[in-house]
Amino acid sequence: MNYQNSLLNKSSLNEAIAHAFQQRRATTLALFEGIEETTFCCQVHPDFSPVGWHLGHIAYTESLWLLERSAGLRCIFPQYRKLFAADGLPKNERVQLPTLEEIRYYLCVVREEVLNYLKVADVEQEERLLRFLLQHESQHNETITFILELLRSQEAKVRNQESGERSQELIFPNHPSEMIQIPAGEFEIGNNSIDALDNEQPVHRIHLETYWIDKYPVTCGQYRAFIEAGGYQNSCWWLPSGWEWLQTESVVQPLYWCYDPAWHHHPVCGVSWYEAEAYSRFVGKRLPTEAEWEKAVSWDANANRRRIYPWGDEKPTPKHCNFSIPHQDLASPQIGKTTAVDAYPAGQSAYGLYDALGNVWEWTASWFDRYSGFQSYPYVGYSQVYFDQQHRVLKGGSWATCPWSLRSSFRNWYHPTVRQLFAGFRCASNHSL
Ligand code: AVJ
Ligand code: FE
Repeated sequence: MNYQNSLLNKSSLNEAIAHAFQQRRATTLALFEGIEETTFCCQVHPDFSPVGWHLGHIAYTESLWLLERSAGLRCIFPQYRKLFAADGLPKNERVQLPTLEEIRYYLCVVREEVLNYLKVADVEQEERLLRFLLQHESQHNETITFILELLRSQEAKVRNQESGERSQELIFPNHPSEMIQIPAGEFEIGNNSIDALDNEQPVHRIHLETYWIDKYPVTCGQYRAFIEAGGYQNSCWWLPSGWEWLQTESVVQPLYWCYDPAWHHHPVCGVSWYEAEAYSRFVGKRLPTEAEWEKAVSWDANANRRRIYPWGDEKPTPKHCNFSIPHQDLASPQIGKTTAVDAYPAGQSAYGLYDALGNVWEWTASWFDRYSGFQSYPYVGYSQVYFDQQHRVLKGGSWATCPWSLRSSFRNWYHPTVRQLFAGFRCASNHSL
């Protein structure tokens, strides 16, 4: 079964693109099945827009780039421009939304025009844009997923407080935090292919000295030791800016933390960059740089080449990792939560790292920055405005990332304080420990 880029299986590129667009859309709409009006319009957190806004923004973006910019048509819903443009209203003013029905209608009308256009368009010419739009919708899809999860976790917290319940506490032995030695040498980072986003390009060579990196992401069981040792109460583990953030937010555990023994070997999920950084210091390690992460995950030293995925160039299947499978593939529905860090031996990298793609995003030590020779596409607001030394790079994707954005070269970025996405980390070191 082929979950992505299935362009070649179809009789024509146009049909294949249309199919991929429709498949993506079904997955997006499935997230809104049975959603309540209040959930739809509610701003759960000041950093994020209501889920309903994301839905409208998906239609707006498709309309702007395909219908207006490519097909040269007039804007069909000019009244939505201000509301759904990324640079329109501030996030807290995005709560007065049309109804779900109205936004579905908007999506539907735009999509109908897009499908008409795809019948006649020079799709090869437009392929980069089309692939961008698919990934754009997928990324908003993931954002919608974690906002809904955030809401659920807030409701669950209230319920737990009310009933005063605590989960059964059993202690299991921790996974040894095995590390893998990555020998000094040159390798390639980045991606020049048609589906690569602007910030992944161009491919370039880097030299790194020998380093060690965790074989697995840090698990809940391991992270629990940090919590129980008073890690959140001791400033010695934290960067001054991280400690300051901790005091204003009164954070005492990961966001999606509700310790359950069944999660002992699952990766910790819902930590900010500051928490990841503090834990790394607690265990005498540090976060890997983005280049270190990518070398360990994608470099095949024997073949002297970069792999698209840790396991090779074969597209992701449910045997490789835990990711978001398109809605219609009912034969193997998505798992919808984290899995144990050693659950996917078939997903190992050439150096032997487990669980690098899917499950949880992994924070790296690196600021999000341009590669030398960077050219913005399709607009400066996509990546370039975030090259501001304010955003840290995350790699690898989560259980909610769709295959269109799942690859070793993909770069995600957030402020070091953001903990709402499905993010964990693994550690690195200059020495063997
Ligand atoms: C790459 C996930 C940080 O959601 O802000 C969506 C992706 N950019 N629309 C974001 C994005 C424009 C972006 N992230
Ligand atoms: Fe967007």
